Amino acid sequence: MNVKEALLKRHSVRAFLPDAVEKEKLDAIFAAASRTPSWANSQPWEVFVATGETLGRIKAAYMQKYEEKAPSEPETPRPKQWSQSAINHQKQLRPDMERDCGEAAAQFGLLNQVMFNAPAVIYICMDKVLSEWSLYDIGAYSQSLMLTAAEEGLGTIPAITLMHYPDVLRRELRIPDSLKLTIGIAIGYEDRNNRINNFVSERSPVSETVRFFS
Ligand SMILES: Cc1cc2nc3c(=O)[nH]c(=O)nc-3n(C[C@H](O)[C@H](O)[C@H](O)COP(=O)(O)O)c2cc1C
Repeated sequence: MNVKEALLKRHSVRAFLPDAVEKEKLDAIFAAASRTPSWANSQPWEVFVATGETLGRIKAAYMQKYEEKAPSEPETPRPKQWSQSAINHQKQLRPDMERDCGEAAAQFGLLNQVMFNAPAVIYICMDKVLSEWSLYDIGAYSQSLMLTAAEEGLGTIPAITLMHYPDVLRRELRIPDSLKLTIGIAIGYEDRNNRINNFVSERSPVSETVRFFS
């Protein structure tokens, strides 16, 4: 699979099969992603992978928090403001999902709450003293992970909902105080029978986003 093929194949998977991800595949993915560029090769990513009983405890603790209606507190806070262009794109998400997935689109909220039934979640942290440039590096690292996963036949989704309750993640994954949680990426084998995975998100035409000057 070449890079363009991986870019086209990758999409956010919101329903996974229970099958575990082979450790060799995870190792291959992290080895490839470690080649991501970063400011002066600072390599800010600190990665914690939850699987098996640990992930089971995280999911159970999250479910309890949802039942208690505990406020979500991601450590990289939700944006306070969006541009008009971003708002327009976001508004299109739900109708497009209903177009592609029909009634399965209604599972969106619940699947987020159960961490998409993923067998593994990758949590990426960075040192608290680092700047937003390191968040840029982590974004690039995340895409490297997701493209390599696509090549390995695995589905992924980066999700803020995975980061809702950092206290649970810190306890279960023994994340040191010096680190900030940035993003979680669920990974596993895609459930192709769940129509929510049929969603193909739109993109603006290149002519609207790229300006050439010569
Ligand atoms: C930082 C970030 C946070 C996201 N959080 C969520 C989330 O909490 N729940 C969800 O279902 N999708 C989430 N997504 C997935 C986006 O909705 C998705 O990437 C976008 O709609 C484009 O679709 P695609 O990934 O299938 O190309 C997130 C994506 C990113 C990059």
